[in-house]
Amino acid sequence: MKDYPNVTILDHPLIRHKIAILRDVNTGMKEFRELVEEITTLMVYESFKHVPTKKVMVQTPLELTEQTMVADGAVAVVPILRAGLGMVNGVHTLFPTARVGHIGLYRDEETLEPHEYYCKLPDGIENSVAILLDPMLATGGSASAAIGFLKDRGCKKIMLMSIIAAPVGIETVAEAHPDVEIFVSTLDRCLNDHGYILPGLGDAGDRLFGTK
Ligand code: PRP
Ligand code: URA
Repeated sequence: MKDYPNVTILDHPLIRHKIAILRDVNTGMKEFRELVEEITTLMVYESFKHVPTKKVMVQTPLELTEQTMVADGAVAVVPILRAGLGMVNGVHTLFPTARVGHIGLYRDEETLEPHEYYCKLPDGIENSVAILLDPMLATGGSASAAIGFLKDRGCKKIMLMSIIAAPVGIETVAEAHPDVEIFVSTLDRCLNDHGYILPGLGDAGDRLFGTK
């Protein structure tokens, strides 16, 4: 795959360890959900080195000191339904006050085209860093469409976080949206004939919510 300046493949050994368990067909729903949250927290920690901050004065037991804290409203989180929901708590662990928007998309099983069924974003999201969440970046159609909704709402700083990506998904999003920072934990080999990532982990939504 070509190198893209807006794409980071985190490839961290602690995250790889958790993804190995996530992929396992014998990993049950509860453990799967917990792992998705933990991996998301690690991804946020690794990718947020430049979050907007503010100066605050703190009185220690000894003296008054100027410190920095994350700026109010700096971050808004936007899961792509359904599977992105599994990542929200992982972001809230580090940004507990991040407001949450929702974008509902499902892929047509034949054409693999995304179809929108819901979009509700927080007021003022255009002034925050919008973190778009979806554990799976397959063809890239869903993520590209979701980024389009955020741009239509005036978002200027958008980050996409996906746990597992296929090369074609990264290429599609990186080329359509060179201004969006894309963070993925691991790059898989390819898609199968039904648009599933190989080796992948199967259907993330079904495994998170126990629907199959
Ligand atoms: C999955 C996944 C992504 C999308 C990725 O959702 O969570 O949103 O597919 O595929 P793409 O990159 O080819 O667009 P799905 O459409 O299965 O809906 P679900 O989360 O409701 O199961
Ligand atoms: N959506 C999933 O849940 N898994 C894939 O492998 C591809 C799309």
